Amino acid sequence: MTNFRALTRRRAAAYNFVPTIVLQNAIVSQPSVESPSAASIATLTNQALKELDAVSDPDGAEQWRVSYLGRRGQITGVLRSIPQLDPDQRREVGAQANQAKNALEEALARRIRELAEAELAAAGALDVTLPGRPVITGRLHPTTQIVREICGAFIAMGFSVVEGPEVELDHYNFEMLNIPAGHPARDMWNSLWVDYVNEEGQQPMLLRTHTSPMQARVMEAQDPPVRVIVPGKCYRYEATDATHEWHFYQIEGLAVAEGITFANLKGTLYEFARRVFGPDRQIRFRCDYFPFVEPGVDMSISNFVDPATGKRPINRDEDWIEIMGAGMVHPRVLEGVGYDPQRYTGFAFGMGPERIGMLKYGIDDIRHFYRNDVRFLRQF
Ligand code: DAH
Repeated sequence: MTNFRALTRRRAAAYNFVPTIVLQNAIVSQPSVESPSAASIATLTNQALKELDAVSDPDGAEQWRVSYLGRRGQITGVLRSIPQLDPDQRREVGAQANQAKNALEEALARRIRELAEAELAAAGALDVTLPGRPVITGRLHPTTQIVREICGAFIAMGFSVVEGPEVELDHYNFEMLNIPAGHPARDMWNSLWVDYVNEEGQQPMLLRTHTSPMQARVMEAQDPPVRVIVPGKCYRYEATDATHEWHFYQIEGLAVAEGITFANLKGTLYEFARRVFGPDRQIRFRCDYFPFVEPGVDMSISNFVDPATGKRPINRDEDWIEIMGAGMVHPRVLEGVGYDPQRYTGFAFGMGPERIGMLKYGIDDIRHFYRNDVRFLRQF
């Protein structure tokens, strides 16, 4: 053990002056008076850590810091005395002293954090440093997505979007579409009638069975040319199965102007199919009957087995799935709204977007759309 103070005094006495270097050593070595060794550094570190554990508030932590890591702290003292060691010891002990210093600094930072957290917890406060809980944001329902996509395809071809009432008058749902009362064609739509009887004893209102009534409403409100699509919900008194729901969406389309032909109908619907299904999916037109068009067709999309997967888009043993009715607007419909059928012609179509979504994404049951099962909805 070297007592630097004693040494200093002795030397000073011997030479009658105080050598600077010795004086420095004397100050620097305070309060540690021992020349540091691996063992003494380990002991000091352990003692420091034990004391740190016992520290219970920020003031205590600061005192601890001053005592070990401060300018005159014990670890600082050890570091300052390293240059006095024998060269062969200097390296090892120096490295260890540095490690000890780093370890104590880290331990102090950790303890300060712990004390702060404990204080917050005791106050019942929020820990604003915690990462936030993720917010579960919703997303558009697959029906909304497909309706928007279909509308987008027609908007790109110059159509505008209009909407109409879901509770509709018999007049628009049937009469104006060339389906008079008592006409057998009414049986094509199993209707949900509103429980209201007017003064003449008629029941004039129903939940619309299709979006076609907007044809007459739009044409009554404007002169040709007309180019609109009408997305919206429809209702039918109907048993449900994989491709039928009692409520579902339709998108109606109507284009009326001078000189419109069946070729325009086909070209427009081909382009729609190309945009929504891509250029490879085939479409098919067949003759069909709807009272408000002449001639009338239905349009189907191919449901052929995909060679890549060995599966059909819709898991039904059918090569074609019907997605819409269409045709040239019946002259009586044009006359009904005051358009001259000698001058104006047009085409109309009505499609079921859920079926189109089913074909596009390979959904096997239309009822998934309304079951609200998040495992289904999350996929879109
Ligand atoms: N409204 C028809 C339905 O619900 C679908 C339809 C067929 C609409 C032919 C049309 C059309 O505009 O021309 O079954």
